[in-house]
Amino acid sequence: MIEVVSDVNEILNRYEKSSESLIAVLQEIQEKYHYLPEESLKYVSEQLKVPLTQVFAVATFYNAFSLQPKGKYVIQVCMGTACHIKGAPVLLEELKSILNVEEHEVTKDGLFSVETVRCLGCCSLAPVISISGRVYGNLKPENIEGIIKSLKK
Ligand code: FES
Repeated sequence: MIEVVSDVNEILNRYEKSSESLIAVLQEIQEKYHYLPEESLKYVSEQLKVPLTQVFAVATFYNAFSLQPKGKYVIQVCMGTACHIKGAPVLLEELKSILNVEEHEVTKDGLFSVETVRCLGCCSLAPVISISGRVYGNLKPENIEGIIKSLKK
């Protein structure tokens, strides 16, 4: 808790103490922790004098924010129709097995978390995963280990 408050203070010091700073402050907290710890939201609410319900409303409205811990690299496995047909469920199982996590869990080293999404918008490359915004297409399960290793370097 003390560490979070000190980190959040460092962020808050760069902004006006007003509701207009809310999104920018939350973005920086998200960047630092890869999610928004609950205690940080309470502290931001007090410091910016924004009701906690409003802080939670913003934190849950934008996809860029997460209330659950995420890895440094967020792996999204597309489970849209095209990807599903071309083997996305097998890719997901391979990822979970290599990383030793279930969906929405973070690896012990904090590097990776895995989630599923509906259509990443590049169906011609199916099956597709996205890792922190970078798209990997035409994947086979045997490609997964190499991708993970290259990110660990
Ligand atoms: S279904 Fe996977 S990118 Fe569209």
